[in-house]
Amino acid sequence: MTEETITLEIFRYRPEREEAPAFQAYEVPCRKDWVILDALNYIKDELDGSLSFRWSCRMGVCGSCGMMVNGTPVLTCGAFLSSYRPGPIRVEPLANFPVVRDLVILMTDFMEKLNRVHPWLIRHEEQPVSAGEYLQTPAQLAEYKPYSMCINCLLCYAACPVYGLEPTFIGPAAIALAQRYNLDSRDEGFRQRTDVLSQDDGIWECTFVGECSTVCPKGVDPAGAIQRYKLTAAVAWWKHFLLPWQRGT
Ligand code: SF4
Ligand code: FES
Repeated sequence: MTEETITLEIFRYRPEREEAPAFQAYEVPCRKDWVILDALNYIKDELDGSLSFRWSCRMGVCGSCGMMVNGTPVLTCGAFLSSYRPGPIRVEPLANFPVVRDLVILMTDFMEKLNRVHPWLIRHEEQPVSAGEYLQTPAQLAEYKPYSMCINCLLCYAACPVYGLEPTFIGPAAIALAQRYNLDSRDEGFRQRTDVLSQDDGIWECTFVGECSTVCPKGVDPAGAIQRYKLTAAVAWWKHFLLPWQRGT
């Protein structure tokens, strides 16, 4: 019996030899337990060693294998070939990012934006080591835990029409991560982050399309994080004017 196959149409771009990108078709076995990433590795190992793409863990943890599959951003290590039968399957680099080569995108813009939101615990003053750990209750942990599940896969940026139109927008994952620290009972950096995120390219740029939360493979709900941040920032702004004696607290 001949093995069932499926066709992958893959975005190819090698800047040193091609002026413009083009699609190249490859026929691969359509095995029941294969995901798109297995098919890409099959192409690389058996058909065409020049194909470039990123991956590492093959288990939805490292966040490096995100690509557009039939126009939707997905982790290719979690997308089964069989669910795209009979094909063809179109595989492209994540939308809204510059392409370095084939399916590899440039992440510099995101890394710079991430750094701007101070994604670490900020304290006005550290307590002495002799005071012990900063303890948290399970309820305090539950407040920020969903936002801490982000794996920086950038699917949300590829799905975000606002980021597509206005690349200065800080974007879903960076804002969700800012919220992760704002909601942490050990953190005191809300004002510092809000100074950045209240600017034109911050939270107010989001029009709540919600596609970022739809495509997120880790259930982070960046759209919800942004709306929650807007509410907290608005309340803080009003308090700043109505209760001036509380400024700086
Ligand atoms: S919020 Fe979700 S989709 Fe966006 S980078 Fe994090 S894990 Fe990926
Ligand atoms: S290879 Fe790590 S998330 Fe897919």
